[in-house]
Amino acid sequence: MSRYKSYLTIEELSKAVGEEVTLRGWVYNMRGKGKLQFIILRDGTGIVQCVVFQGNVSEEAFEAAKSLTQESSLIIKGKLKAEERAPGGYEIDVTDLQVVQLSKDYPISPKEHGDSFLIEHRHLWLRSSKQHAIMRVRAAVVKAIRDFFDGNGFKLMDSPLLTPNACEGTSTLFETEYFDLGKAYLSQSGQLYAEASAMALGKVYTFGPTFRAERSKTRKHLTEFWMVEPEIAFFDLDDDMDLAEDLVEYIVAFVLKSCRQELETLERDTTKLEIIKRPFYRISYTEAVDMLIADKIPLKKKVEGEEVDIFPFPWGEDFGAVQEEAIMEHFDKPCIIHRYPVEAKAFYMKRDPENPKTVLAMDMLGPEKAGELIGGSQREDDYDALLKRIEENNLPVEAFQWYLDLRKYGSVPHSGFGLGVERTVKWLTGASHIREVIPFPRMIYRIVP
Ligand code: 4AD
Ligand code: MG
Repeated sequence: MSRYKSYLTIEELSKAVGEEVTLRGWVYNMRGKGKLQFIILRDGTGIVQCVVFQGNVSEEAFEAAKSLTQESSLIIKGKLKAEERAPGGYEIDVTDLQVVQLSKDYPISPKEHGDSFLIEHRHLWLRSSKQHAIMRVRAAVVKAIRDFFDGNGFKLMDSPLLTPNACEGTSTLFETEYFDLGKAYLSQSGQLYAEASAMALGKVYTFGPTFRAERSKTRKHLTEFWMVEPEIAFFDLDDDMDLAEDLVEYIVAFVLKSCRQELETLERDTTKLEIIKRPFYRISYTEAVDMLIADKIPLKKKVEGEEVDIFPFPWGEDFGAVQEEAIMEHFDKPCIIHRYPVEAKAFYMKRDPENPKTVLAMDMLGPEKAGELIGGSQREDDYDALLKRIEENNLPVEAFQWYLDLRKYGSVPHSGFGLGVERTVKWLTGASHIREVIPFPRMIYRIVP
């Protein structure tokens, strides 16, 4: 028996069929006529129908049941029985009922609300069945990630969130004053520290929130998002791609196994997820460009404020959502695109010894318009080459001295990647917007609630 106040949750009801149970929760919905009141109770773990028959409860309890409103909090006692027709498969014959607090004018009714209304009421919207299901899938994805790495000999090494330098370009930095030491920046990625950690512990992962001052108002960008970043000493790009596939395969299988109910609530077509098994697809950036040209997909670029189409797609440019989606039209499973042009990618990526115009980078794109799930690379491990890249990118060499040190004292080939938690959850749940897959989204136009 737990030391905490012991009570059953709706999720655990199968243990207590035929017994007298006590449930605590909120009114999800209710209806009634005459001597019967039906309460759909939710307790955070699930919902169950509770039937209040006037003859079975005290007069006060029946009056209380009649007075209930949506989201009122209450404690219910009753007999649990299996009931096929009821949602969830159980029903409670109520014997007693106690209102904890009567809710007044709950703003979210079962009717349709506009997107902006719901997001303004995010603190309450989380109680709705679809949002509830998405949050449970999110928790499962995070658990799958931790289990995967912990179970494969990786050590969790947290990277700092306040940092003295940029990791992913200087255009998306959040900056803040840092006492007498000048400017500090919110971390865009834990990678640089993960590299130092990998040289100390071999196989590590860093897992936490990351920040990008993204100006883009897309359905796939947040300004604060969670990323898991493995980093491994003596790993090359091929090892890195293998690991990325293993991780994604593991997450999908775990979610399919542990979130059946949630995926059903979300009306997710799970046949599209059942096939997510290795091997995935792999093509080079150059092959991807050829594909775009064959499919007549242009580069969309802003020239003097006006959007223009450039065709054929010029080798050297990075892909945007349009290109990613066009490429993924060819694939029903994730596809890794590797060996990108130097100019399209970050300063720390290792030059491809076979082709100096490209770096040993890889992005994993997801099917069903999931977009980029993973970005990774083999890292530049040569001191002089890295220094040159830092300078070419106009980054302050001073702030990177410690990072350069890693190339001075026992430098080794090493690789890693970052998987975006929200991109992954969005894909797996089929959510239409990334703001629905994090409890309290942060976007360019939203910081409340
Ligand atoms: O491709 P990115 O920028 O890679 C890195 O940050 C590397 N330092 C990772 C590494 O090698 N350790 O970001 C990695 C992933 C993307 O593939 C995407 O899933 C997610 O992070 N991501 C975002 N998710 C939501 N909102 C944004 N603004 C995101 N930017 C990146
Ligand atoms: Mg990327």
